[in-house]
Amino acid sequence: MTGAPASDSSGSGIESVMHEDRVFDPPASVSDSAHVPSLEAYRSLHERSLQDPEGFWSDVAMELSWFQPWSKVLEWDAPDAKWFVGATTNVSYNCLDRQVEAGYGDETAIIWEGEPLEPGSGPEVRSLSYRELMDETCKLANALKSLGVGKGDVVTIYMPMVPEAAVAMLACARIGAPHSVIFGGFSAQAIADRVHDASSKVIITADGGWRRGGIVPLKANVDEACQQADCVEHVVVLRRCENEVSWTDDRDHWWHDIVDSASPDCPAEPMGSEDLLFVLYTSGSTGKPKGILHTTGGYMVHAYLTSKMTFDLHPGRDQVMWCTADIGWVTGHSYVVYGVLPNRVPTLMYEGAPNWPDPSRFWQMVERHKVTQFYTAPTAIRAFMRWGDEHVTGHDLSSLQILGTVGEPINPEAWMWYHRVVGGERCPIVDTWWQTETGGHMITPLPGATPTKPGSCTLPFFGVDAAIVDEKGVEQPADTGGLLAIRKPWPSMLRGILGDRERFIETYWSDIKTEDGTIYYKAGDGARRDADGYFWVMGRIDDVLNVSGHRLGTAEVESALVSHADVVEAAVVGMPHEIKGEGIAAFITLGPGASPGQDLAGLLREHVAKEIGAIAKPDQIRFADALPKTRSGKIMRRLLRDVAAGKEKTEQDVTTLEDFAVLAKLRESEEA
Ligand code: WTA
Repeated sequence: MTGAPASDSSGSGIESVMHEDRVFDPPASVSDSAHVPSLEAYRSLHERSLQDPEGFWSDVAMELSWFQPWSKVLEWDAPDAKWFVGATTNVSYNCLDRQVEAGYGDETAIIWEGEPLEPGSGPEVRSLSYRELMDETCKLANALKSLGVGKGDVVTIYMPMVPEAAVAMLACARIGAPHSVIFGGFSAQAIADRVHDASSKVIITADGGWRRGGIVPLKANVDEACQQADCVEHVVVLRRCENEVSWTDDRDHWWHDIVDSASPDCPAEPMGSEDLLFVLYTSGSTGKPKGILHTTGGYMVHAYLTSKMTFDLHPGRDQVMWCTADIGWVTGHSYVVYGVLPNRVPTLMYEGAPNWPDPSRFWQMVERHKVTQFYTAPTAIRAFMRWGDEHVTGHDLSSLQILGTVGEPINPEAWMWYHRVVGGERCPIVDTWWQTETGGHMITPLPGATPTKPGSCTLPFFGVDAAIVDEKGVEQPADTGGLLAIRKPWPSMLRGILGDRERFIETYWSDIKTEDGTIYYKAGDGARRDADGYFWVMGRIDDVLNVSGHRLGTAEVESALVSHADVVEAAVVGMPHEIKGEGIAAFITLGPGASPGQDLAGLLREHVAKEIGAIAKPDQIRFADALPKTRSGKIMRRLLRDVAAGKEKTEQDVTTLEDFAVLAKLRESEEA
């Protein structure tokens, strides 16, 4: 294996992933002082973690603080796992008190950079020590208690990316109130659905959040959501933008009114290891988003260990970890907050957008805060590539040590650009494969140990028994595509879907069953392993789209579209998109009286933004007289995907097509 590219051939997308053969060894500068310094060290530790999972995870868990030890590390009755059985702990305690009690209270926990309020003006920067973060957390925790929030009550968090968002999560964890964080880009309707599903009585929000110089009207969205979700009793509102907000006296509370005067003393509630830590909604292949459940002990241990190993975090080494994800996504949960704080490395949070006020925002931030670990999504990398190298190279990025990517397969061109232009050919890239459901990294290189190949997420993390199998659980030979499955339980695995046991079993635990009846976790991704055992993830095999690294169900977008009065039928499919990875194409039939065209397409895009959020707006809309269907009436999505991708001819079998003319017409239909 060589450090230099063995070949420079590179095409685009999946095709070139299939033929990628460049290998990059971990640089000695990283290996020499890494937690896992070689491939051999990784292999022997990985083997131990699979041979003796209880011993392995118990050693890791002992690096953290517990109020009561466990009597058993794992109880597994597929698909139900209990980790650290009988133990009690508190995640907020491990993030905060643990550091303060060990004498590190004055060290930096969070560095935050707000959006520059005017182009040319300096950014707003704040820094919170563990002690300050703990005080704020305790005060909010006490304020929540005074509103009647107790153990087990789900609190909804709909916040901009400000330190108080992390405070809100930590305060909930501290008192045992599971949180449900909703991404600030989601609409009022999306909030209402989630609040209702979780019967959440309290929402924590802000008057607004800054994005590209404008104000995201968070409070107004919450007000609108509350008209539908009558379970909400209290709304706590942080003042961020000083914009006008409407007020409901017996429901709304300013954060500063109830938090500033609260006591900074709030001992962390001892939580059972299997007590719920959070619910996080994600898209599936049916219309309704599912509330993925994560519990306390296992999630904490896995988030801690993956942060430590994948990013090679070492307290006291002047590292600064920057994960650019919003806390509304699982990546923000695990790698902005819960995995990083217990490692005692400062976590950088930012508000705003990567290209506002100009496309060098991220690189200015790396330089200003001396970021050492940088973790972002391929879609952002592709956007930076397009904006031009000069925005990157004009900044001192010499602090960077390790680069990471997450959310979708990274095309080798983007990988090479990241390696060369951002990493100065010096920084290992960790391409981390995982999901909302898995809680933390599952397949990823370790920066000091694993030789990397552009486009491959390489090898399974400790304790993870990943395989490419068929529906009978039979492992596929090298270079053969199959289902990505996990065969053994892992600590941060989802414990269920809120209120829907059946869907939990059906979605993840029904499709892969071995001859002897063992069930495996089905990730929903198609992948292959190469002759070195490296994993290459191709993408979703279900009706889930991955738009800019964000999951969206086609059914979700379809139901938003058909809820518009003019739409009779809608079919949504993915299409290749240069920056987003996958774009959204919608095929629509209209009711009598509605006229197809740009105007209606614009209205429908806005309608979808209102129903779900701007990320779900279709990139392509085509109006049709009819949609292609099989004789049994099923929409032929495969054909639509070809049309959306602009393929002239389809290789798909069309003998079952009810009406060939429909297809011809669709091809002729104009994009609106
Ligand atoms: C995709 C995000 C290829 C995959 C943490 C998965 C990836 C879905 C990668 C989960 C990667 C995530 N390479 N594909 N490194 N990381 N994915 O729940 O399809 O938002 O199933 O979690 O993103 O998306 P989710």
